[in-house]
Amino acid sequence: MPIIKDPHLFNEQSLFVDLEGVLGCRLYLKIEGFNFAGSIKLKPAREMVERAEREGLIGPGSILVESSSGNLGVALSMIAASKGYRFVCVIDPRCNLATRQLMESLGAQVDLVTEPDPVDGFLGARLNHVQDLCASDARYIWLNQYTNPGNWGAHYRWTAPEISNQFPELDVLFVGAGTTGTLMGCARYFHEHRPEVRIVAVDAAGSVSFGGQPATRLIPGLGMSVRPPQLDESLIDDVVMVEELDTVRACHRLAAAGFMLGGSTGTVVHGATSWLADHAAQDLTAAAISPDMGRPYLDTVYNPDWVHDHFGAEALATADLTAAPGRRSDPVSAAQHPAPVPVGNYVATAALGNYVQ
Ligand SMILES: Cc1ncc(COP(=O)(O)O)c(C=O)c1O
Repeated sequence: MPIIKDPHLFNEQSLFVDLEGVLGCRLYLKIEGFNFAGSIKLKPAREMVERAEREGLIGPGSILVESSSGNLGVALSMIAASKGYRFVCVIDPRCNLATRQLMESLGAQVDLVTEPDPVDGFLGARLNHVQDLCASDARYIWLNQYTNPGNWGAHYRWTAPEISNQFPELDVLFVGAGTTGTLMGCARYFHEHRPEVRIVAVDAAGSVSFGGQPATRLIPGLGMSVRPPQLDESLIDDVVMVEELDTVRACHRLAAAGFMLGGSTGTVVHGATSWLADHAAQDLTAAAISPDMGRPYLDTVYNPDWVHDHFGAEALATADLTAAPGRRSDPVSAAQHPAPVPVGNYVATAALGNYVQ
């Protein structure tokens, strides 16, 4: 077993789940949630900070600042705590309460923007706030995951080779698209080393990354309200857009089999299974990436009241457990779920004003 001194030095890199028994289709899921930051974002956080250190961009008194849907914020909070840096994370209301509390417990300052930019949505509002901070004080260093080559570079360096080494016969890889760091790092690696592997991007309906119309999205992680600057579509073979209702159902289906994974995992798994169903004639070896675990989503994806409020009783009544042979097939009815659990802190925080600092 590894013995470490710094929290970012442990990351489970070789865990894959064979989902055939759960989904009835051949899909291997790379699990990225087993590290002290709890998500795949540990890799870009580490890479971006180490590059900035090497380039002399971070000095005594520097304050790291980043806009995050949550997971990068946690990873940077952890690394900043370990290395003795100050860190400000700019989030929006889609960030899970638990994720926000985690950042604060790690010593980060969390700034919450509550009003979307009229054109560029919540992401635009977050970036405006980051830019205001940087303009106000030269000590702020914006790592800028949206353009920083360390973001995709981390997945080129680690994630893609980890998958490639495990599956010499890989035909297709499904990758969720947020900043597109994971997607572009994997796409570049396979394009250069194994061009026969098809790269399929999975995005949330309502995201504009691949040219769709903007719409409200509730689940953090995937999707952008502005086009991701790092995205190079020439390296992508296909794109699958997934409705959030399907994301929730996929999460519930995985949880019903004991695999409690994050919201974006549900999106990627649903996108992968529907793409594979359309290509069923081919006998494909397929893998997908699960960015984080399910616990931070107890207030949302795994909260029956939240699901009921946003997607209706039907979302709860069809936990979609029936597809795989030999699995539980009893549907979960809304009536079986416990009484509402208030998420009052979250609401109270959001009511504090435009920016909570
Ligand atoms: C849970 C989760 N899934 C997916 C992503 C998207 O990853 P990327 O930004 O590399 O596209 C993120 C990014 O923050 C995330 O937190």
